[in-house]
Amino acid sequence: MNRSIPFLELAPMHADLADELKAKFAKLLEKGLFSGGEEVEALEVTMQEFLGISHVIPCANGTDALELALRALEIGPGDEVIVPALTWVSTAEVVKMVGAEVVFCDVDTDGLIDIKQMENLISPSTKAVIPVHLYGKMVEMNQLLRITRSMGIKVIEDAAQAFGAFQQGKSAGALGEIGCFSFYPTKNLGALGEAGLLSTQDPLLEERLRLLLNHGQAQRDRHEIIGRNSRIDTLQAAFLNVKFSCFKAWQQKRKALAKLYLDHLQHLKGVVVPSSILQSAHNAHLFTIQTDERDALKAYLGEKGIGTAVHYPLPVPVMQAFGGEKDFPVASKLSISTLSLPLHPYLREDEVRRVCEEIQLFFSARLG
Ligand SMILES: Cc1ncc(COP(=O)(O)O)c(C=O)c1O
Repeated sequence: MNRSIPFLELAPMHADLADELKAKFAKLLEKGLFSGGEEVEALEVTMQEFLGISHVIPCANGTDALELALRALEIGPGDEVIVPALTWVSTAEVVKMVGAEVVFCDVDTDGLIDIKQMENLISPSTKAVIPVHLYGKMVEMNQLLRITRSMGIKVIEDAAQAFGAFQQGKSAGALGEIGCFSFYPTKNLGALGEAGLLSTQDPLLEERLRLLLNHGQAQRDRHEIIGRNSRIDTLQAAFLNVKFSCFKAWQQKRKALAKLYLDHLQHLKGVVVPSSILQSAHNAHLFTIQTDERDALKAYLGEKGIGTAVHYPLPVPVMQAFGGEKDFPVASKLSISTLSLPLHPYLREDEVRRVCEEIQLFFSARLG
């Protein structure tokens, strides 16, 4: 009997680091330090260096990062924000949360915002665009920025899935006005809880973001603007500092496993493999294939003990909260044909081979 292969297992990822993580917790418990402090400062320095972005601001999670970015750019009622139709709901939800209008844009066959269509959706009310580096693959930022810059439209990069992706040497989150990252536990760099990060090259935006996420106060009890609490937990910052020491090795492992998948699947009839996943502008967050047999393949792999996931089963505009708008043919097609295969640093090569063999068997039975 073959051992099952879950889509993602978080426990083994932390087994090697358990002693260090526990030691961090013990130290903070002993000190009684749970908000701010040197772990948060150390995380800022590490992130600034790694991302090559002059200002980084840790925060509570990626959704807050996006909402704070909109608020820092003073986007609100009467403004329109263009968002891709295929993404995690946060990207669109935050636009509604600040009282602005979401204008959905269809995606290309990789699931990234269709830049030509985006250009056609720009109106006098368009204040910002939120390109999403979906599955870890960066949107072609030069092309997008040529349009937005010429029209004075702000760009907030949703880099929640793209930590570790670099386009022509520039990190995801370094190219728009503001970058937003998530350290949700399943991300390539995940906290042991919720955490996020904002990035900007603009010192005035940095100042505003820091005020917004700390009750509008630069100094205790001096509230300069209306803000809220979206500070990162000290404990999560400390865990991220520990986990970052493995990040580069984990990325290499992801890329090696992605290559193995490609070697086995790229010529298989009936399957489209992810494009450019081995390039630096993709962080190999997810290995997504496209097939017309998606649901049958998912069920077959499930019977064989192989876990898969669907990112995402519905385009966001189709959902009830967004009014059920349906006119997004590419996003709709991807939502019924995309399947994410297991890909994480603790997956073994023989497990990837087994997933591929099962996929090959499935298609040889179907297609003859
Ligand atoms: C594309 C995208 N945007 C935003 C988010 C929100 O991040 P978080 O879960 O940290 O709030 C996520 C992560 O789940 C995401 O994948």
